[in-house]
Amino acid sequence: RLTMEPSKDFVFKYKGFYFGVNTSVEHVASLENFEIKDSDIFIATYPKSGTVWTQNILSLILHEGHRNGTENMDIMDRIPWLEYNIKNKDYTSLPVPRVFATHLPYYLLPRDLRNKRGRIIYVTRNPKDVLVSYYHFSKYMNIVEEDPDFNSCMERFLAGKVLASCWFDHVAGWYGHAEDFNILFLTYEDMKKDLRSAVLKICNFLGKKLSEEEIESVVRQATFENMKKDPRANYENLPDDIADKSKGRFLRKGTVGDWKNMMTVAQSERFDEVLNEKIKTLPIKITWDINSEM
Ligand code: PPS
Repeated sequence: RLTMEPSKDFVFKYKGFYFGVNTSVEHVASLENFEIKDSDIFIATYPKSGTVWTQNILSLILHEGHRNGTENMDIMDRIPWLEYNIKNKDYTSLPVPRVFATHLPYYLLPRDLRNKRGRIIYVTRNPKDVLVSYYHFSKYMNIVEEDPDFNSCMERFLAGKVLASCWFDHVAGWYGHAEDFNILFLTYEDMKKDLRSAVLKICNFLGKKLSEEEIESVVRQATFENMKKDPRANYENLPDDIADKSKGRFLRKGTVGDWKNMMTVAQSERFDEVLNEKIKTLPIKITWDINSEM
């Protein structure tokens, strides 16, 4: 408990939200005035909720299977991180439609978006799987603070003392302000249960008409197994100072309910104690395990 504050070597706080130190207050603050084009698309998530998966689906839909000269570009270059402009790109001159990934809470996104310009796809995942994914992530990402054990990682997650702060606040904020935005909500679990439907929903939201064959190709290329094999999609090109590839992989397991393999009954109960009442106030039902649902 005493050492629960995250280390300043890894994060800084801006307007109540924890950012990784690989960005700056200046850049983050500038985003509120970032000029939006109507064709802009944002993928917004709390970390470990299916961001990269959605990045790939979007890239496949928009670039029709990477056949337009972007086929050899890393996903991070095709769809850069809004608040982590690691490569110092000029975001104003990216080809349209510009697509960005972001972990920002609703209140820090460019203001223009609140006038229903641009489009946002917000993806949620059940928070126990998010936590377990984050725990593994912290072990091999050199830029993410690692806890001595899973239990302290869980306590910090529950207290919102981690990258991107509190899971519940993030999700509740986005759902609570849905009316201000042009927004499509998806869940990781629904994508897992029926990827084709998720692809169709995204196409519909973007007003993009793909042929039956193209849809099938997007679905095929966006499965966990195929993304894992695809060097443009699997985030394995991260530099060694950012990720220690001997300690883990970005595309780790890609399942629903992996928390059952990590959390003890007592830990799961403690988690429920802190979050269940709050979760009941969300306008969505959280899917904790895919098999018990079917
Ligand atoms: S990050 O760091 O916030 O961008 O992470 P994010 O991409 O949001 O989440 C990483 C988890 O998503 C899983 N993933 C997938 N699951 C199923 N299918 C596909 N295609 C897929 N692609 C990525 C990834 O494996 C991480 O989850 P875990 O549970 O750790 O495997």
